[in-house]
Amino acid sequence: MDNPIVDFDPNDELTFPQPVTAQLSSKDFMAAIEAYRPGSGKTAVWHLGQNSWILKGDSDPQTGAPGKILAVDPYFTDFCASKRTGQRAPKSRLLPIFIEPEDLRADVVLVTHSHPDHADPFTLERLAIKESALFLGPWQALKVVTEAGIPARRQVLMHPLQTEVLEGTGIEVTGTFAEPTDFTDLNHMGFAVKFPRGRVWYNSGDTAKTELLEHVKAFKPAMMAVCINGGYHNLSHWEAAEICALVQPEVAVPAHYDMMPHNLQSPSMFRKSLYEKARTVKYLRMDYYRAYEF
Ligand SMILES: [Fe+2]
Repeated sequence: MDNPIVDFDPNDELTFPQPVTAQLSSKDFMAAIEAYRPGSGKTAVWHLGQNSWILKGDSDPQTGAPGKILAVDPYFTDFCASKRTGQRAPKSRLLPIFIEPEDLRADVVLVTHSHPDHADPFTLERLAIKESALFLGPWQALKVVTEAGIPARRQVLMHPLQTEVLEGTGIEVTGTFAEPTDFTDLNHMGFAVKFPRGRVWYNSGDTAKTELLEHVKAFKPAMMAVCINGGYHNLSHWEAAEICALVQPEVAVPAHYDMMPHNLQSPSMFRKSLYEKARTVKYLRMDYYRAYEF
């Protein structure tokens, strides 16, 4: 994490957004994630746009078995815009589909809430891991998971402050509080995730501003992935920085700023807010396709 906080001119990144082109085929990217071996005691994380993430633990020091893979809010289609038409629309995704739903191989899938840029019905229904992965989320999100054909025995209903150590993976997942952003889903959550031997990764999910988010500080997150877009009552870049000041992660990663034309936010504004509000927290904007370890 070689990204020291220094003051800077927000215009440094005025070119946002830039077109992102696919660097790897879907299958090749998934194969690269499967082949990736984080350093001992490290967890790797990839950002796939909006609030989509893939995490991978380190290899088992006894058996050499590769670390398990966990996905968060896989938004791997264009559901929010074009449904099944394939036509461009105002909410069409700006980013390539990094991984096709059929190609995703993960042991665990976390779904933070039911909105379709997080619990994407088209992604979930096309997953090939419906019978093998565990799906965790609050009940409104799990309703979408059920409707997508994922059996109840593969689902774990989660609540804020509930911790589950997942059988077969050793991954420890704790639900965190998130403030709902509209009437359609009053059961938003975030998650704190810890792989065996790893450190805590926190994802805010979609949340409005509330000082209750300070409770996450107790989990001592090494990395905090936080929404910064401000649209639809999510945290703005300024509010996200204020929450980072409460939670005090080592590193803050901006999220939910890059997918849809009507809902963009330059990450450099968050970088500037972090400098003003939480100067000890390091800023990290993730490049797509690249693994980061913590
Ligand atoms: Fe969202």
